[in-house]
Parts: sequence; C-alpha cells; structure tokens
Amino acid sequence: MKIGIISDVHCNLPALLRALDEMGEVDEILCAGDMVYEYRFSNPVVDVLRQRGIKTVLGNHEEVILSQDGQRMRRDGVISPENLAFLNSLPKVLETRLDGKRVYMVHGSPWPPEKEYLYPSHPYIPRLAKIDADVVILGHTHYPMIRQVGGVLVINPGSCGEARDPRHDFRLTYAIMDTSTGEAVIRSFVSPDEGRGWGEETAPQETEEGEGIYGRE
Ligand SMILES: [Fe+2]
Repeated sequence: MKIGIISDVHCNLPALLRALDEMGEVDEILCAGDMVYEYRFSNPVVDVLRQRGIKTVLGNHEEVILSQDGQRMRRDGVISPENLAFLNSLPKVLETRLDGKRVYMVHGSPWPPEKEYLYPSHPYIPRLAKIDADVVILGHTHYPMIRQVGGVLVINPGSCGEARDPRHDFRLTYAIMDTSTGEAVIRSFVSPDEGRGWGEETAPQETEEGEGIYGRE
C-alpha cells in the first residue's frame, strides 16, 4: 500500500495541487495539520482535503480558528459551513491501521508542550520509540525527516506549502510511504509560485524531483 503524506499547506493551493499531482496514484493520503493560517483561511485548500477524503489532524493554526480567538473568523462567514464542520470533526491525534501498520499522527508533539517543534535534533525524537505504533507522523517544523527509532519509523513530510528548511534550498516537500517495505522517502519540488507572489497560479515549471535526497536520517 502506498501512502502519500503531506503537512503544513498553509493556504498554498498551487503547491498543494502540485504535490498531489506529483505523488501520483496512492492508496491513502494523510495530512499532519496546518492546512491554513490562523489569520487567513483558504476554503479552496480545505475543500481539496475534505473532498479527497484526506485524513487530517488539527494543527495549531486550525486550533486557534476553533478557539475563542477564532470566533470572529468563524462568525464572519469566512469559512464555508462544510469546511467549518470538517475542522470541527478533526482529531488532535489520529491512530489508525494501514495495511496492518499501526500509524500514529500528531501535528506537533505527542507530549506536552503540544506545540513543541520536534526538529531532527530534538531530544524527544528517540523517545518516539516508546509510542505504541509502527509509524509516527509529525508536522509543524516544516523540516522533512525520516528516521527509524527503535521499532518506530518517524516521518515528518516537511511542508508542501511554506518551505522553511535551509538545508535543501527551501524546497517544498511531501513523503511517500510503502507499507509493504516499511520504508518512506521524501520528495521535494519547487513552489509553483516561487518569485511570483503568494498563491498566484503560474505556468507549469520544470520540476526538479528530489526523491530520496534526504534518505534515512
Ligand atoms: Fe504548525
């Protein structure tokens, strides 16, 4: 079974569509949260995730929208009723089985503080081996990572909307996991709107596929 994994779209519709297009045929897609910004919403981005049945967890930005602080955004009709219902249906943690693999997905950290950024060098990374799962999926850092810790394969797909990782020229990323081999790869691509302004649709560019460039860290 082939699983596509995305995270931290942050309202970037052209990049989301490119990631979904480039990953090709997959059996399931997971999203580790932060589809949008707490101060800016994108119904088209959430429409794509909702309509494609992408299993998603709440990111910190969605949590703000659903909190007291997001009252005005919810009240002013910025969010379509379908998308608000979708946000309200999302769990903070998703625990599921895919092709027999126990998958645990959370946006930030499984332990308090939940908004901790579990960068590749964070001391919590080895602790992820203690989670009762075969695969742990994280988001939030925008730093892609694939690492085996004990019996747990840790995957952070990075961000397919707002690149923040200087290690790889700020390219956008997503992950593909193959449940039959138990392995995952990071694929990177250039943002469709690079240098042309935020979120603007542009003509298709040459894509420099970076599959496997991160390898197993
Ligand atoms: Fe986040």
